Amino acid sequence: MDTAKELTQRFLRDIEKASSLQDLEDIRVSALGKKGHLTLLMKDLGQKSPEERRVVGAELNRLKESLTQAIDTRKIELEDLVLNARLASEMLDISLPPRPQPKGKIHPLSHVMDQTIHIFGQMGFVVKEGPDIEEDFYNFTALNIPPEHPARQEQDTFYLPAFSEQQPLVLRTHTSPVQIRTMLKEKPPIRIIALGRTYRSDYDATHTPMFHQIEGLVIDTKTHMGHLKGCLEEFCRLFFEDPNLKLRFRPGYFPFTEPSAEVDIWWKGSTWLEILGCGMVHPNVLRNCDIDPDLYQGFAFGMGLERIAMLKYGIEDLRLFYESDLRWLNHYGFDAEVRE
Ligand code: PHE
Repeated sequence: MDTAKELTQRFLRDIEKASSLQDLEDIRVSALGKKGHLTLLMKDLGQKSPEERRVVGAELNRLKESLTQAIDTRKIELEDLVLNARLASEMLDISLPPRPQPKGKIHPLSHVMDQTIHIFGQMGFVVKEGPDIEEDFYNFTALNIPPEHPARQEQDTFYLPAFSEQQPLVLRTHTSPVQIRTMLKEKPPIRIIALGRTYRSDYDATHTPMFHQIEGLVIDTKTHMGHLKGCLEEFCRLFFEDPNLKLRFRPGYFPFTEPSAEVDIWWKGSTWLEILGCGMVHPNVLRNCDIDPDLYQGFAFGMGLERIAMLKYGIEDLRLFYESDLRWLNHYGFDAEVRE
């Protein structure tokens, strides 16, 4: 029996020293496997007297039990060691900054359109749209520009093949046809802006064949020049972010407004810069839209969106707006913003 005890002691020491799961398994096989030392001693029991068998059997079972327990305990320790080693070698450094995500930019023109809509929106204007391919009637005739009027030549119009003799088609030369479309559909009071593409056959550092305008139209019973002035002053001061910006109204001429004015802003304390045209809607235009000029009157204005964008953001060459050069866009573009 002492052999069994000694054996067990030895195994217990080996178990404690086992440095890998494989070592431990070898010890288990050598002690408790089919041909293991303790197993063989158990088998020998058959040759003993019943009395001895009971005593020795119980003792062997105890020893076997203690070995099994020791193996289980060491196994858990070794498994922990293995796991910790793996965790240490596979550690993720989650403090690493993320890779930069390429972010798109808002084109300065889109940004200026958003700002413009926002400012006029706060003044109660709603946005209207019209087609880029426009009928001669809306682009010219209804705006008090009859067929032989010199203004038609001045606007360098792109003409399109007409579908019929009566209605020649043009690429709209300004956003003013949207005034006509609105007044023919809706009755006063009217308070709208129209933004969009316009076209003239012209190309240099300050002209491109396609450009953008914003148009404004207000028609009511008592709307007068004072309202026009206040409205444009408010817009320019908010848009150029200068509450003291000075405006100058010079007499001008447009067939569709009377009186007409050109508006300049006092730029950087050094020079007057023209930024828009405006005036009181001509009675003929109202008549052309079935609005009685004895009951209603109002004002209109139009300005180039590229022009105000170039001024505000110091962009020198208009042609670059449309070249889709990413370096230019990254420089002059804007991050998307969420507006409340
Ligand atoms: N449509 C004019 C232009 O393109 C601008 C304008 C609009 C002037 C409305 C007066 C009133 O030049």
